[in-house]
Amino acid sequence: MKHTSLVTLLAGISATNAGKSGASLLARYSAPACSNAPSTLSLPDAPYDNFFYSDCNVAAQAVVTTPLLDSDLTQIGPRLIVAWPAGNSGACWFFAPQNGVNGSLSIALVNSTVGNPLAPVYSSAKNGSANPSVGVKSVLRFNSSAVLTISILGSIRTIRDFTEGPSILYPEIQDAITFTTNGNGVQLNRLWLDNVTSTTLTFQPWGSDSTGKATVVNRTVHFEPGDYLFSAAMSYPQMTQLEPASVLNSRSADLITQMPGQTAALSFLSYSEKLLAGAWRFLTYFGRDSMISALLLEPVLSSGSGSAMEAVIGAVLERVNRTDGSVCHEETIGDYATWTNEQEGIYSNAMSCDYKMIDSDYYLPVLMQKYFLQNPLGKSRATAFFSTQAGSVNAANRNLTWGDLALINAERIMRLTGPFAKEQTKDNLIHLKAGQIVGQWRDSTYGIGGGRIPYDVNTALAPAALRSIAALARGGVYPHEKQWATEADKNAKVWEDSTLQFFEVTIPRKEAQSRIDTYQTRAPFTVPTNTSHTIDSDVTFHALSLDGYDSLAQVQVMNTDDCFRHFLLNTTNEAQLTSFLNQTASNIRRTFPAGLMTSAGMVVANPAFGSEDVYAQNWTTGAYHGTVVWSWPLAMMGKGLELQMARCDPKTKTSAPQFCHDASVLGNVKAAYNSLWDSIEANSQQLSTEVWSWVYRSGEFDVTPLGVMPPPPGAGAQTESDIRQLWSLSFLAVTRNEKYKS
Ligand SMILES: *[C@@H]1O[C@H](CO)[C@@H](O)[C@H](O)[C@H]1NC(C)=O
Ligand SMILES: *[C@@H]1O[C@H](CO)[C@@H](O)[C@H](O)[C@H]1NC(C)=O
Ligand SMILES: *[C@@H]1O[C@H](CO)[C@@H](O)[C@H](O)[C@H]1NC(C)=O
Ligand SMILES: *[C@@H]1O[C@H](CO)[C@@H](O)[C@H](O)[C@H]1NC(C)=O
Ligand SMILES: *[C@@H]1O[C@H](CO)[C@@H](O)[C@H](O)[C@H]1NC(C)=O
Ligand SMILES: *[C@@H]1O[C@H](CO)[C@@H](O)[C@H](O)[C@H]1NC(C)=O
Ligand SMILES: *[C@@H]1O[C@H](CO)[C@@H](O)[C@H](O)[C@H]1NC(C)=O
Ligand SMILES: *[C@@H]1O[C@H](CO)[C@@H](O)[C@H](O)[C@H]1NC(C)=O
Ligand SMILES: *[C@@H]1O[C@H](CO)[C@@H](O)[C@H](O)[C@H]1NC(C)=O
Ligand SMILES: *[C@@H]1O[C@H](CO)[C@@H](O)[C@H](O)[C@H]1NC(C)=O
Ligand SMILES: *[C@@H]1O[C@H](CO)[C@@H](O)[C@H](O)[C@H]1NC(C)=O
Ligand SMILES: *[C@@H]1O[C@H](CO)[C@@H](O)[C@H](O)[C@H]1NC(C)=O
Repeated sequence: MKHTSLVTLLAGISATNAGKSGASLLARYSAPACSNAPSTLSLPDAPYDNFFYSDCNVAAQAVVTTPLLDSDLTQIGPRLIVAWPAGNSGACWFFAPQNGVNGSLSIALVNSTVGNPLAPVYSSAKNGSANPSVGVKSVLRFNSSAVLTISILGSIRTIRDFTEGPSILYPEIQDAITFTTNGNGVQLNRLWLDNVTSTTLTFQPWGSDSTGKATVVNRTVHFEPGDYLFSAAMSYPQMTQLEPASVLNSRSADLITQMPGQTAALSFLSYSEKLLAGAWRFLTYFGRDSMISALLLEPVLSSGSGSAMEAVIGAVLERVNRTDGSVCHEETIGDYATWTNEQEGIYSNAMSCDYKMIDSDYYLPVLMQKYFLQNPLGKSRATAFFSTQAGSVNAANRNLTWGDLALINAERIMRLTGPFAKEQTKDNLIHLKAGQIVGQWRDSTYGIGGGRIPYDVNTALAPAALRSIAALARGGVYPHEKQWATEADKNAKVWEDSTLQFFEVTIPRKEAQSRIDTYQTRAPFTVPTNTSHTIDSDVTFHALSLDGYDSLAQVQVMNTDDCFRHFLLNTTNEAQLTSFLNQTASNIRRTFPAGLMTSAGMVVANPAFGSEDVYAQNWTTGAYHGTVVWSWPLAMMGKGLELQMARCDPKTKTSAPQFCHDASVLGNVKAAYNSLWDSIEANSQQLSTEVWSWVYRSGEFDVTPLGVMPPPPGAGAQTESDIRQLWSLSFLAVTRNEKYKS
């Protein structure tokens, strides 16, 4: 990369647009009129303040971080981020107090005649280049003299490499930033590695009595205290956002007024090309997140051409690996794609995909069945949808249709599930990919304790995908594989009936009690000690995974992944079904550490029954997949138990499963359903966020942000929970069924 040529090029662009006057280049062009009012959301989450702005021209999120009196000043400093879903793009600025005393500078975006606090920026296409430069502007207030120490302009992934990794900055990206002063203001600009797109940032003193002045010394910007008109824009092509009325189906339009915050967030994350996994760090395609969300939200999502359902399924098919049928977990697009390609010596802006997850493959047929067989609008769309040519986003799939890619994915599932259907050995279960330490939703380093064979994939996702492949084959979706209509069903039955036993853990009552007592002394935080009376029988649960670290044959952590079987399958092995449902119910009803329930919600992992020390050490209240509460498993468990109970009201009582006739088991399930919903309702404030933790004090589990808990041993920095996540919006569709209220 020749930096001198970049600077020359930038000077040219700047002169062309700003003209001789030197006025802000962003102010001169007016944006195309939008037919709907802009959508805005303000979500304070101290020390973070989140603002979302979208209209028909631009969608962006701004996050301002400013230290509080009790902030850990080694972790929390003044920071401003602007994130655009388009291209997974972002810009990030770290500020420091000029006097060097951490905590003495506060920054804020304030309401003004510019916006409340955000307003759009739009500057029409430069000569010849097709894309306008779009973003947001606002008034930024510094309460004392400040220094802009680091700017990262381009991709959210480059920002995450700095904020989450060991503070990596790439000279090739950093050195391409140009600094230009303009009166008392300053402009920063970076041309992306694609040589076409640029990110532009300006600061101008704001207000008639402004004391503000920005100066550049040695590529560092210095600010006098005061207000500045701040604007951030970039010229990557924007996507088409699905407005609340087009992301929801018409039956669900009332949600726009009933749950305005959730529908606005859903709309912000929804585009005609794909749904995004969550706010700023995840404002892009993630396969698992979008499919779990679509499965749970299907009753309220729009269907048909250009709908939310088709955005999800189309985005997944477009990105399937054509060679082996794997579903893409996360895409790499925008500036980071060019960067990644360059590291391989390739000069291309082509996107790429990460295929390390194994669970995502199995959600696809299940979602296709839900849409193309069970949804009337989806049914009518199948032929047109499957003949869509792939390649418009993922050039690697050119010459294939989405239907071809659906077939390649189903072939993969048939191939990987074949051996176990023939011979039920542990070796024939589905393993993580070689060399990968994660592969399903608990994708932190020790999330499933290093296990190679995950519980959810083997006992629920694989059989559910096979059931769906059989149904899709009967529906004519795989015209050349008609035999799957029976073969996949036959194999599904084996996977349903013969996998749980590999994971089952049964601990006699006395031993269970003694393990809880030991856990109470081992847990590196306070846990309730008066739960003894709740262990009234042997304890049964299913291991998170097999073949874990520390020679654990079974990773014996009680967990919520039973929800996948309840939600996705109607199994028919009666004795197994009865005891499986009963143990889920018992584990939900018992208070942590005897079970999964806390007043902060149902925890996704409970290590108390593991006999080795490592369980209590690794699955903590500070671990991303530890003894913490995630929103979407609450929704999936609630819905799953409801679907199982619904099997007890068929037209003919005799066809109901046996558990329906066992009053104690059905009562246990119903009690668990209600205990779960009571806790969901008690924690409604948290539900739209990703994950939260707790601290036990005065007999209560007090909700506490995960970000402030100490990370478990072996984990680097703590993870910031996400203010809004797609799958945490599932409660738009999943509600308590009053019929089962006790
Ligand atoms: C001051 O803030 C910086 C940046 O956030 C941090 O790296 C440093 O550790 C802090 N120093 C002290 C003494 O807190
Ligand atoms: C700016 O805000 C910080 C944090 O609230 C505070 O400690 C500091 O005293 C303020 N500075 C001025 C000059 O008001
Ligand atoms: C800024 O304006 C928004 C929207 O009108 C309003 O909700 C918010 O309370 C205002 N903030 C302040 C600090 O006045
Ligand atoms: C368009 O911009 C480029 C720099 O990006 C410049 O070299 C060229 O002369 C411009 N063309 C016109 C017609 O202004
Ligand atoms: C961008 O331009 C530089 C310098 O001319 C060139 O080396 C590089 O290959 C170009 N990058 C792409 C992605 O075309
Ligand atoms: C500018 O930065 C360079 C490298 O960091 C340093 O050597 C030089 O002394 C600085 N100059 C001024 C005027 O601060
Ligand atoms: C697609 O799958 C094949 C076969 O497993 C693998 O070799 C290839 O690397 C994958 N493609 C990508 C882009 O990861
Ligand atoms: C698609 O087909 C065209 C023409 O048959 C061929 O040139 C091209 O290489 C193919 N692309 C891919 C990705 O297979
Ligand atoms: C527990 O965490 C430690 C790191 O502190 C790691 O070495 C060990 O393998 C982990 N064990 C399990 C079962 O996750
Ligand atoms: C259901 O679980 C309870 C423990 O909560 C146990 O006492 C009962 O025996 C179980 N019933 C069946 C049928 O497994
Ligand atoms: C399971 O049964 C319930 C109740 O009849 C039904 O609503 C649900 O769709 C069924 N699930 C599957 C995967 O067949
Ligand atoms: C445990 O004790 C606390 C008081 O310390 C009480 O509030 C709570 O209800 C008790 N929990 C159980 C399960 O008995």
